Amino acid sequence: MSPLENLIANTARLSAPNNFNIERVLPTEEEYYWIQISHLGVYYRTQEALSDINCIIKPGRLTGIFGPNGAGKSTMLKAMLGLVPGNGVALYQGEQLMKQLDKVAYVPQRSQIDWTYPATVWDVVMMGRVKKTGWLRNFSAVSRRIVKNALSRVGMMDYRHRPIGQLSGGQQQRVFLARALAQEAEIFCFDEPFVGIDQKTQGVVFQVFQELAAAGKIVVVVNHDLGESITHFDDLILLNRELVAAGSRNHVLTEENLYHAYGGRVIFFSDAA
Ligand SMILES: Nc1ncnc2c1ncn2[C@@H]1O[C@H](COP(=O)(O)OP(=O)(O)OP(=O)(O)O)[C@@H](O)[C@H]1O
Ligand SMILES: [Mg+2]
Repeated sequence: MSPLENLIANTARLSAPNNFNIERVLPTEEEYYWIQISHLGVYYRTQEALSDINCIIKPGRLTGIFGPNGAGKSTMLKAMLGLVPGNGVALYQGEQLMKQLDKVAYVPQRSQIDWTYPATVWDVVMMGRVKKTGWLRNFSAVSRRIVKNALSRVGMMDYRHRPIGQLSGGQQQRVFLARALAQEAEIFCFDEPFVGIDQKTQGVVFQVFQELAAAGKIVVVVNHDLGESITHFDDLILLNRELVAAGSRNHVLTEENLYHAYGGRVIFFSDAA
């Protein structure tokens, strides 16, 4: 089946159960490269963690998912990728994103990574190559060069022989960023990558994110810091179990939206301040 036929078949099945009208559901060429999230929802046993999320995520822009603790930020990333069962769908290039995880680099929240795993920094980043090359060929010269470049880009090449468990939190975050880079993905998803890292490292990490976006990648970053760093993001998705607002940063960052997401506890950060 050609990509276009595939797109039509999937879009028809997922988006238009009744009164199917091809003119209406076919995305434009630009939309084809968006992640299109429709009616995404997750229940953990009887508790609804995420309800009816509808939004898009565009390539070439740095997108932040914001909201208070427990808002469903991590859950939204996992549901998009099919890592937790849920309702609704996330489409990319006309197919469910969960069926295209080879295009995705995902770095989970720090608390969900097993830091006692007995691997060196080099091994952890090399694992990012496995999906591209398979185990047997993952030590190819090309992969070694890519891993070396990725570690250098985040300033961790000197630590390549260290066990991952013996690094500081910020160093570990940088290693996982390097692994994501080594994957050469189209879609990058990072869950709270700035937790426990200093200002300088944060600058390095934002620079890498912005370079990825400038290269036309989809870059989605869960964050909760409403401070000045929010100005690095182009687009925002503001959550509090449901979607509060999504779109360009200036469109989303209103006092009313922040109040809806965070309640009365927010000190509003303005670009002009
Ligand atoms: N595996 C799970 N089983 C049951 N409940 C869960 C599970 N994972 C998350 N939850 C609940 O779902 C809700 C959303 O959790 P989630 O981790 O997505 O929030 P978050 O916005 O990422 O929060 P944080 O800022 O603390 O990381 C919370 O109430 C949480 O307790
Ligand atoms: Mg979380």
